[in-house]
Amino acid sequence: MTESIRNAVEILRAGGLVAIPTETVYGLAADATNASAVQRIFEAKGRPSTNPLIVHVADANIARRYARQWPQAAQALAERFWPGPLTLVVPRSKAIVPQVTAGLDSVGLRAPDHPLALQLLRAFDGPLAAPSANRSNRISPTTAEHVKRELGDAVGQVLDGGPCRVGIESTVLDLTRDRPAILRPGAITRDQIVAILGPVELQTAADASDRPARSPGRQPVHYAPATPAYRFASGDMPQVIAWRRTHLKKRAAFLLLHSTAAAGAVAPLINESDVLVPLPSMPVDYARELYSQLRRADALGVDALFIELPPDEAQWAAVRDRVWRATRSLSDIEQFK
Ligand code: TXA
Ligand code: MG
Repeated sequence: MTESIRNAVEILRAGGLVAIPTETVYGLAADATNASAVQRIFEAKGRPSTNPLIVHVADANIARRYARQWPQAAQALAERFWPGPLTLVVPRSKAIVPQVTAGLDSVGLRAPDHPLALQLLRAFDGPLAAPSANRSNRISPTTAEHVKRELGDAVGQVLDGGPCRVGIESTVLDLTRDRPAILRPGAITRDQIVAILGPVELQTAADASDRPARSPGRQPVHYAPATPAYRFASGDMPQVIAWRRTHLKKRAAFLLLHSTAAAGAVAPLINESDVLVPLPSMPVDYARELYSQLRRADALGVDALFIELPPDEAQWAAVRDRVWRATRSLSDIEQFK
């Protein structure tokens, strides 16, 4: 066992917080069986206690200990996708303190696919509650540096496992309903789950914002930059250009798909003081870069960010969901004068 893992285990056993690398984003971990340790996570993040945390385990055999019921579907999915970016919501065992799940009778479990996280889980020999290691409603961290900058003082130790391979949070699948439902799309796609389970519902941030009676705490805008950020479909480029022409004193950053950024059509969009950020044309690469590019764009000190939504296709579902949550609709632009 390395010195840093040993140190992390000590901190966790004493009820402290350790930031851990995973393949998706960095997590802020605490002992999921210790109520006051879990309380510290909510305090460090400024997270409302009504938002449940994901519990990390080393493998499916350990997961079953923390599930009151471990359905056949959970076993099949864990065998296929763990360790990996898939969180399974199943009935909660009493060993997981209720603070972890915001009092819910269910718990989200996942085995992260990162060697350091797995080493730590084995050495700690217990379940680790870990939300993304960012301040509540801010952009999730994909490097140890992001965590140090944002939460450094509140964390006992930051385990540096390099930049995250996936770059956006895990797929969350609810297995406690009659029909399984994806509560948050991620790198494990609906098609991959359907291939194993049959029909699966998919809820995205876009759906949530279309719902008329929105409940507080299920606001679609989070993971957001501090700079006002607007999403737009490729077809709405003329509106963005119109904004550019009528707001000549404002500075903006444009996060565009590489293919769009390379096209001559964007020339009228970009003023001298603007910043153009091209993003990858493949969903997997786009996901890996999205949060660090958002953080960078947010730090530029520009007046607004404009983010092009990738195409409305299944392979882009998770990325579109995150862009959606990070932004407002272009129709809100009048608020920005
Ligand atoms: O990739 C990830 O999942 C990262 C890394 C660190 O593992 N973690 C993460 O955690 O994104 P967090 O806390 O930022 O997101 C957890 C989300 C909650 O907001 C909620 O939507 C869902 O997972 N969730 C967790 N437990 C749940 C439950 N029992 N029922 C329904 N949804 C749950
Ligand atoms: Mg989060």
